[in-house]
Amino acid sequence: MNRPAPGHSLPLSQLLGRCANAVAAVRKGQSLNEALAATPAPERPGTQALAFTVMRRMGLAQALRQKLVPKAPHPWVDALLISALALIDEGSYDQHTLVDQAVQACKKKPKVGQAASGLVNAVLRRFLRERAELIASLADDEVARHNHPGWWIRRLKKDWPDHWQAILAADQAQPPLTLRANTRHGSAAAYRERLIAAGLLPADAPAIEAPTPLGPEPIVLPRAVPVGQLPGFAEGDASVQDASAQWAAPLLLQAGGSPLPAGARILDACAAPGGKTAHLLELGDFDVTALDADPERLQRIKGTLDRLGLKARTIAADASRPADWWDGQPFDAILLDAPCSASGIVRRHPDARWLRRDTDIAALARTQDAILDALWPLLKPGGHLLYCTCSVFREEGEDRIDAFLQRTPGARRLPAPGHILPVVEYPETPAHRPLGHPRQGAPVVDPGDGFFHALLARPSQGA
Ligand SMILES: C[S@@+](CC[C@H](N)C(=O)[O-])C[C@H]1O[C@@H](n2cnc3c(N)ncnc32)[C@H](O)[C@@H]1O
Repeated sequence: MNRPAPGHSLPLSQLLGRCANAVAAVRKGQSLNEALAATPAPERPGTQALAFTVMRRMGLAQALRQKLVPKAPHPWVDALLISALALIDEGSYDQHTLVDQAVQACKKKPKVGQAASGLVNAVLRRFLRERAELIASLADDEVARHNHPGWWIRRLKKDWPDHWQAILAADQAQPPLTLRANTRHGSAAAYRERLIAAGLLPADAPAIEAPTPLGPEPIVLPRAVPVGQLPGFAEGDASVQDASAQWAAPLLLQAGGSPLPAGARILDACAAPGGKTAHLLELGDFDVTALDADPERLQRIKGTLDRLGLKARTIAADASRPADWWDGQPFDAILLDAPCSASGIVRRHPDARWLRRDTDIAALARTQDAILDALWPLLKPGGHLLYCTCSVFREEGEDRIDAFLQRTPGARRLPAPGHILPVVEYPETPAHRPLGHPRQGAPVVDPGDGFFHALLARPSQGA
């Protein structure tokens, strides 16, 4: 019998089948977003909800499947089993209903399904009988316990010996919806009032103090809502942007101690989909060039800027090859939001951990170095470059900047947050505290995504 999935009118078996398709695609290397794009639109939200949970529990589910069926079954059947094992104990579903619906989903899968449904039934029922022993047998399995790949866990242990467990735990959390008020249209405080009036923000929600004169002042909503429900969203009164990402524009624009003047030439070198391009332009009338290597993603910048009533020159090109696109006019400031592992935003993209390989990090570091080296000469003497990544790995943050400073005569590092970790207890002694802390001793709103920011100054002529 078909049973609707909790919170959805569609049968759970149907969503489980779709979820298995997506999980199988991720296990083959496709991103979950791409995989979900193949799901019919009405089934997408329900499938996404299941698949997000599966991604967050896949280390455990894969280890359980391995114990229960040592020889991997057909990849789709495997993905269905892993999905069911991830969901069965999660608490949202009645366990026997879930088993029954997984078997139904299997039976409906052309070619492999009928033959495999007996196996799916037997494995899941055995799990229910032997659950305690099976879970206990995995007590020393870190991948099963933390639901991240082993190399990722080892890297975090090395990079953050005191905080690796907190980072892994933060990756499992549901992220909040964080907003940036468009200060061309009104202050963050005024936008908060509109959210309170709309019933989207509690009247006593703590405001986050702006750490610099230009902000940021993120507004953290207690629960996510479709953007169409946000007051004035279509008119460009606010945007969705994590608190940590909101540091970039204020840091770059005030890098020299006083705000960059109107008309300053700014390069946003890896700009799509344009969150930081828009933030820069909300804070002043600058001449912004937004560059991205991916022409499709570049189109999204135009959409973002149109909604906000802002303008930038957009170029589809490789930032590490300025000879292909640079007009020879130096920039006053450069924002390099470099391509990275996305290890800081796993709570928003729970598939990211399963898509990466350890060897990717060294390859990404080479790309990050190449882009940094190529852009540095494009900066005016006395200009500033902000390097950032949404990664918590030191190899993509501190190590890149240390190496750059060693090989680049005259380059200086100015104060900036450095590594921001998505944890409540802040590890180091940077010149800031995480934005989610409204004021000393007050409750934490949200620590923000994992991020890295480093501000670099090019010496003035003659200096
Ligand atoms: C972290 S995302 C940028 C996010 C963006 N700054 C924002 O705030 O919305 C990194 C971007 O770098 C682009 N990219 C990757 N390699 C590049 C290259 N060699 N040159 C220019 N862009 C590149 C990717 O297409 C991707 O859009």
